[in-house]
Amino acid sequence: MARADQGYLSALDEELKPGTLLSGRYKVELRIGVGGMGAVYSAVDLTLKRKVAIKLISKHHTNEPRQVARFRREAEVASRIDHPHVVRVLDVGQAAGREYLAMEFLEGVDLFDAIQLVGTYEPADAVTILDQALQALEAAHALGLVHRDLKPENIYLAQSETGEINVKLLDFGVVKVMDEGGQKQLTRTGTVVGTPEYMSPEQASSGIVDARTDLYALGCIAMAMLCGRPPFVNKSVLVVMTAHVSEPPRKPSDIRGDLKAPKAIDQFIGKALEKKPENRYQSATEMRAALKRLAAELGAEPAAGRITLPAAHADSATMLGATMRGTPSPLREPPPAATDPPHGTAEIEPRRTAPIPLGWLLAGVAIGAAVATFVTWWVMR
Ligand SMILES: Nc1ncnc2c1ncn2[C@@H]1O[C@H](COP(=O)(O)OP(=O)(O)O)[C@@H](O)[C@H]1O
Ligand SMILES: [Mg+2]
Repeated sequence: MARADQGYLSALDEELKPGTLLSGRYKVELRIGVGGMGAVYSAVDLTLKRKVAIKLISKHHTNEPRQVARFRREAEVASRIDHPHVVRVLDVGQAAGREYLAMEFLEGVDLFDAIQLVGTYEPADAVTILDQALQALEAAHALGLVHRDLKPENIYLAQSETGEINVKLLDFGVVKVMDEGGQKQLTRTGTVVGTPEYMSPEQASSGIVDARTDLYALGCIAMAMLCGRPPFVNKSVLVVMTAHVSEPPRKPSDIRGDLKAPKAIDQFIGKALEKKPENRYQSATEMRAALKRLAAELGAEPAAGRITLPAAHADSATMLGATMRGTPSPLREPPPAATDPPHGTAEIEPRRTAPIPLGWLLAGVAIGAAVATFVTWWVMR
């Protein structure tokens, strides 16, 4: 599983030197993350004397008004959600012509690196992480906000000093604002956004999304946690998007034979991954209730205090932190391929999450789906 957002444009940026002062207030320490929009640094807020995380827009985006607007909107929207499982935005600003936003500093590891580290999660741990992510989604959806880019890179496992893990939702860069009920998209955007491996069928086709789009992505994330990879993996963006639209996903229990309560897990993820939004969980609350039933089958209560993660995880979080600060490590290497993966073992090239032009992609997905239907008919006839 390759990071969907690593490297790319942000990596072309010259790294800010430690000690760089932004707006006379934030003293940069180290680069701690790279995403599709820019790079994230740890810094000290000299005014309030506390550590913060600064997301600085990539130089390559500063001349693109749409990207700048997207960046500003992220700050505005994220700061509206005041929730313990959503990263807190503290400030926005501009330094040397580049937009930045200051966030609470999180100590820990994002779920992408965590999966790399543990390979696969035990269902009880996955349940707790999913439950906290769902709580964050309940809050966002209640405000009519659809995240649209849920993926392991955008889910952070923040570790407190006492070792407790708290899930924090990151990156509201492509958030969609819905009508009041959060169920209807007000206008079409003319762009497809999201990351192919976690993109719902409607995102990959019509582009018209609602809260259930995020629940599909969370189903893909659940699969990645339990099986080490999301449901559809292929080098080609088009193949992955077409698979979301028209190919049934494999059952987690087919990929991983040692799952406790395999039927209940298959059912839980299967429903999240339904192609038609009306066949999925209709809300984060409904999905949480189903998760609670799954937890009962597993004999594990979600959100019952602290998340207990595999010991290796906690020990290695610090090591991964060092890795994120630029030291190459074998931990960054992709894990061994799961047995008989769904769509070939090809690793996906790193790619950014910026909006993709709608026209050619939709045409491609339509043609792909038609070819797949024809081949199925030809074989089955
Ligand atoms: N507040 C934070 N504290 C620590 N690390 C963070 C924080 N915010 C982001 N990161 C790290 O930086 C990466 C990129 O951040 P993200 O907000 O997703 O940016 P992008 O929009 O560029 O994808 C994340 O995957 C995470 O690893
Ligand atoms: Mg991101």
